[in-house]
Amino acid sequence: MVSTLDRLTYAARQTARVAWYAGHYAAGRRLLKPMPKPEFPIGPTPSRAELTADMRALFEREWQDIAAGLFAAPRARGPEPAEFLRRSLLYFRDLPHVDARRHGQRNDLPPGEQGDGLPEYYRQNFHFQSDGWLSDHSAAIYDTQVEVLFTGAADAMRRRAFKPIAQWMAGRNQRALTGLDLGCGTGRLLAFLHDAWPGLRLAGLDLSPPYLAEARRLIGRTARVKLIEGAAEKLPFDDASLDFVVSSFLMHELPDDIRGKALCEMARVVKPGGLVVIVDSIQRGDQPSWDGLLDLFPHYFHEPYYAAYANGSVEAWCSAAGLTSVASERAFLSKVAAFTK
Ligand SMILES: C[S@@+](CC[C@H](N)C(=O)[O-])C[C@H]1O[C@@H](n2cnc3c(N)ncnc32)[C@H](O)[C@@H]1O
Repeated sequence: MVSTLDRLTYAARQTARVAWYAGHYAAGRRLLKPMPKPEFPIGPTPSRAELTADMRALFEREWQDIAAGLFAAPRARGPEPAEFLRRSLLYFRDLPHVDARRHGQRNDLPPGEQGDGLPEYYRQNFHFQSDGWLSDHSAAIYDTQVEVLFTGAADAMRRRAFKPIAQWMAGRNQRALTGLDLGCGTGRLLAFLHDAWPGLRLAGLDLSPPYLAEARRLIGRTARVKLIEGAAEKLPFDDASLDFVVSSFLMHELPDDIRGKALCEMARVVKPGGLVVIVDSIQRGDQPSWDGLLDLFPHYFHEPYYAAYANGSVEAWCSAAGLTSVASERAFLSKVAAFTK
């Protein structure tokens, strides 16, 4: 049973997050040099008011699921206040470097790491962020960068994966289930999963040691959550060994062939009747009056594989990998697509 106080606490937390990150967004815009207007045709884009209303609807849907008892309200997750503020400072200090890359003035990665075996497609300044995925500094400011981009709605978008997971888990004993978060990054979705279903055995897999270290700091030491350095396209799990696999904001970062392999791997490692949930950007046609955002995003951010992702269909790719669609929800700027094997 949720109380009025629970509802007010949830609303206050989300409002504070949105205000905080919208403030960062507004301040950041003043620091950035304007980009030249794109010279290619742009589809329709939503107004700010429409986006704000849609973000509110996202929080409202999450609250309705909490009130219906599908899962508990999220607890605040993040570093201590002093560290939280330090990260904001780091974010603003880093912005001029991001801006220089946006304007083509530099494209640097940490030196001396070429022998680490990481694939070439991975070794890039995604989003123009400093060091790509390759440093502690990048891992420390990634969450701020993402929340500023989505004005405080990124965690709520990730957590929309909870609805299909909760529905699928109904009648199952969580202590007997094993789940994987593929491309878990700094571990936000994994931490929320652990909070919501503490009995689950969870694993997070990512290619970036600094991001995995950040995830461990966020989640803390617990035998219930394993973190594994590895590649999505070659999973270190046996066939049909996991009950569910979830992945947030990974697919649009992968080249076509690697994305195809990663989806086949997800289908391979999940048990028959198991669940696969993918949270990622909306794709063309999911919200036709917003299609212009899909044209603009890779213009403003270094996203080498995003256009191919946005013009494709997660549903079609998963079907080709042997999965069957069970649910789909547009969640603000992302889509949550659930499949079974
Ligand atoms: C945009 S971030 C998403 C992170 C996290 N899931 C989230 O919701 O913020 C993409 C993550 O995928 C990881 N990644 C990219 N390519 C990968 C691959 N082939 N195998 C495993 N992880 C990969 C990166 O290191 C990064 O942490």
